[in-house]
Amino acid sequence: MEIRLESQPYAAVQSDALVTYVFDKDDKFDGALGEIDRAMDGRLASLASSGELTGKSLELTLLHFPEGLAAKKLLLVGAGKPAKFAAVSDLRKIAGTAARYLKTRGVKKLAFLTREGERGPAAAQAVVEGLIVADFESDKYRTDRKNREIESVALCGFDGGLGADLKAAVEHGRAIAESQNFARDLINEPSNKLTPRILAARAEAMAKEAGLAVEILDERKIGELKMGALIGVAQGSVEPPRVIVVRYTPEHPRPGAPVLGLVGKAVTFDTGGISIKPANNMEKMKYDMGGGATMLGAMRALAKLKPSIPVIAVIPATENMPGGRAQKPGDVQVAMSGKTIEVINTDAEGRLILADAVYYARQLGCTHLIDAATLTGAIEVALANVHVGAFGTPREYLDRFLESAKAVGEKMWPMPMDDEYEEMIKSNIADIRNTGSGKGGGASTGAWFIKEFAEDTPWIHLDIASTCWADDGRPWLAKGPTGIAIRSIVDFALKQ
Ligand code: BES
Ligand code: MN
Ligand code: ZN
Repeated sequence: MEIRLESQPYAAVQSDALVTYVFDKDDKFDGALGEIDRAMDGRLASLASSGELTGKSLELTLLHFPEGLAAKKLLLVGAGKPAKFAAVSDLRKIAGTAARYLKTRGVKKLAFLTREGERGPAAAQAVVEGLIVADFESDKYRTDRKNREIESVALCGFDGGLGADLKAAVEHGRAIAESQNFARDLINEPSNKLTPRILAARAEAMAKEAGLAVEILDERKIGELKMGALIGVAQGSVEPPRVIVVRYTPEHPRPGAPVLGLVGKAVTFDTGGISIKPANNMEKMKYDMGGGATMLGAMRALAKLKPSIPVIAVIPATENMPGGRAQKPGDVQVAMSGKTIEVINTDAEGRLILADAVYYARQLGCTHLIDAATLTGAIEVALANVHVGAFGTPREYLDRFLESAKAVGEKMWPMPMDDEYEEMIKSNIADIRNTGSGKGGGASTGAWFIKEFAEDTPWIHLDIASTCWADDGRPWLAKGPTGIAIRSIVDFALKQ
């Protein structure tokens, strides 16, 4: 998608459609909207008084051949009540909703006019993010693909974007949104097209293109490092595991600066292993590598946005299969850290592979950690598909992260990490067991298991099991992988 900060006045911009937005009820049709209304002989005002144009959130009103505009169509998107309008997150949704609506109507060239007061870098970035994320389709494996991508966008109202900060904002938005789409593309891949080895190759190609250092640990190296928890999961499959390590190093590293570790669960298919899952919906377990894809997406964006601290992604990749060599309930595995784990349920495999990856990230020098994982069905019981479950210690570290999530409009909710949950993962015969007591709190016991390996390193765990994939589309987002958490992680890394 080609995006330019338009220097011509909006009315003169040739496009298939000009998009702008209208507030609920008390929109005065001032500024540019007033000009448009007057050029159309008060048609907007009369649509408003007849009740057809209300400005209700994401209401769509399409007008053809609008007088006074070089655009072929005018799309008015409802912006809701002005008092509830949050410029950045609502502009993102408005732009995304417009793009998804118009692309099904053959629009290739779009112009987007922000209202007076929303013409700074943050607004430009939000519109760019909304448009690019909305343009993603899951039609790679359809032979009747429609190729409805939007080709070009003119951002109007920004006075040609003469300010360097506006140009930077557009590129910032592009880096984040395209990285979200990069992750979504990986998450969509079926497991026969994305084995751990193929995921590693895709990560390697991305890293080379983005200018990041990358190292792939194969099964021999994983064995040498004694990653017993990861090996325990991988041994049920004929596909060998991989650990993907991607590094970003700032140009002028400060000695003693924090090193951020991004650990992402990448189970390219989760059958549950010997504790096998029911057939219903099992096909969705191709997205059990969503945490790993999230971290690869974040790294791709950070390579372009250049935070001042080093960032290392560690992504354990494996299948969870019930093959003849598969681990069995009751087996004891020795993690890389030396801790012993009683495997009560082979379907609680995510925490096992994260145990070794989190420990390895600390060995590589990470002083701060974030992990993302499609870890538990329990998080859906707690938060539905609305919020990401966010765990972490110390609490202040988590709170700082939640500020980033809020700033970028990603819903995340702090979850408890009390000591009682630790009691629930004590084993009778080993140091810990990989499931809780069966009396609830499944997302928290899962988090505590990972914390056993993060120990005192400041650590955040994002359970994205219910938010990484949207079963239903939204007006601004295709159904399927959402790319959640990348914006927050990138924002957080840039603020360190
Ligand atoms: N990958 C699943 C969690 C999951 C469930 C992700 C639904 C996305 C949608 C994970 O490996 C798993 O199976 N967790 C178990 C843990 C339990 C056995 C303690 C679960 O949540 O049922
Ligand atoms: Mn599982
Ligand atoms: Zn899983």
